[in-house]
Amino acid sequence: AMNMVSELVDDVSKDRGFFAALFASYRSLSEDGLISCSLTFSRSPARSYVKPAAIVLLTGQSIRAHSAVRDSRDLAESAMKALRATLARYKREYLDVLSSLDEPKPVAVVILQGRALSLEEIRAVVSDGSEYREVKIPIKNPEWSIEDLPPKIVEEVRLVVVNPFKSGMPFAVKGAFITGPPGVGKSVMAEALANALGLKVVELKPFTYRSMWYGATEKMLNAIMSQVFRRRRELAVVIDDAEFLSSRKYTIHEAHLSELSTILYHLQRSDRPFTILTANNPDLVDPALLRPGRVDVTILVGYPDKEMRRKALLRNASKYRVRFASEKVVDYVVNNTSWYSLAELDALLRLAASKGSGTVGLDEVEWARRKIVVSPTERRSIQDYLRWWSTKVQGIVIAYIPTEVEVE
Ligand SMILES: Nc1ncnc2c1ncn2[C@@H]1O[C@H](COP(=O)(O)OP(=O)(O)OP(=O)(O)O)[C@@H](O)[C@H]1O
Ligand SMILES: [Mg+2]
Repeated sequence: AMNMVSELVDDVSKDRGFFAALFASYRSLSEDGLISCSLTFSRSPARSYVKPAAIVLLTGQSIRAHSAVRDSRDLAESAMKALRATLARYKREYLDVLSSLDEPKPVAVVILQGRALSLEEIRAVVSDGSEYREVKIPIKNPEWSIEDLPPKIVEEVRLVVVNPFKSGMPFAVKGAFITGPPGVGKSVMAEALANALGLKVVELKPFTYRSMWYGATEKMLNAIMSQVFRRRRELAVVIDDAEFLSSRKYTIHEAHLSELSTILYHLQRSDRPFTILTANNPDLVDPALLRPGRVDVTILVGYPDKEMRRKALLRNASKYRVRFASEKVVDYVVNNTSWYSLAELDALLRLAASKGSGTVGLDEVEWARRKIVVSPTERRSIQDYLRWWSTKVQGIVIAYIPTEVEVE
């Protein structure tokens, strides 16, 4: 913040110099919070026209620009108060100077995106063929929360998964499998679940650990897993689109089998971290991965009902700072997106917002809707398949499979 201040004031105060007072307060960086508020004063002898300036740094995904600007005045004032208190203790001679100045004006409000601040990673080094290979996997702070999930299953997820885990019950669920058609929010749910459990996310992706050398893939996997296991109280493992771990039913390549068996081995250790798998096509995932003891709960996610479409639409509109021309537009979108996935609903919103330069009216929605073609017949049968599949699952099932009436 001080660097920015100096850039800003340097020109006007070349031969006069300036003072800056940095006033900082930290809250958790993963939450919304103030990082710093700095005040700057010119050292000019003609104090009468000196105006103190404040630069405010905030962090957080959900901070809106206009409320940040409004709050920044209060922040600048409390920074001024804090400065006054400090001067009263250590530099009384400056107190008069300070009282002769105007109220500080915020000249800049900077909002940092919280996610960019997460630089943690898992590192593993193993010998790969004739050389050493290092793999770094970023540790992600989840952005989605359990409140973003379909209201119909939030309570059940809390009761079955979150509460027992958080209270450290020995019988707590330690693995979840999330399945459903493309774009319905499985990856989002995996993240939200980790968030609700108070865990950060390490995603196991094949391209990070697979090697062309015999035995090196397993070695790398073991090295990664041992890092993750050590930090199991703070990390969840997410295996997104787990179809890539090909099932023994379909694979004959020995390398793939041994990769799968390495993962199976780790997932049945009693000291394993919470593990979440997702897949579009549950039939392609090896049943051994999904049996109770590795995966204790299966969450089935179907195409969203109206209630969920409304919730997702409003959340994403606020995320992209999109305005609706009227309340009617929201109803119109919700009522005319039956059988859309949440990804398609999101695409519709973004398309319409691009056309309307940030404001979405009925015309924009109609225009965007023509570009996203959805076949209700096909979607109904996918939803039916999911419902049928839910009857075959071993272990606990949490199902969000809205009926035709709820969707349409
Ligand atoms: N709970 C939610 N609230 C609002 N929007 C959501 C939600 N879940 C998903 N979305 C929207 O849908 C998009 C796709 O979600 P996600 O990537 O989780 O789907 P998926 O089921 O994992 O898809 P795939 O099968 O292709 O991996 C997200 O980028 C987001 O825009
Ligand atoms: Mg996904």
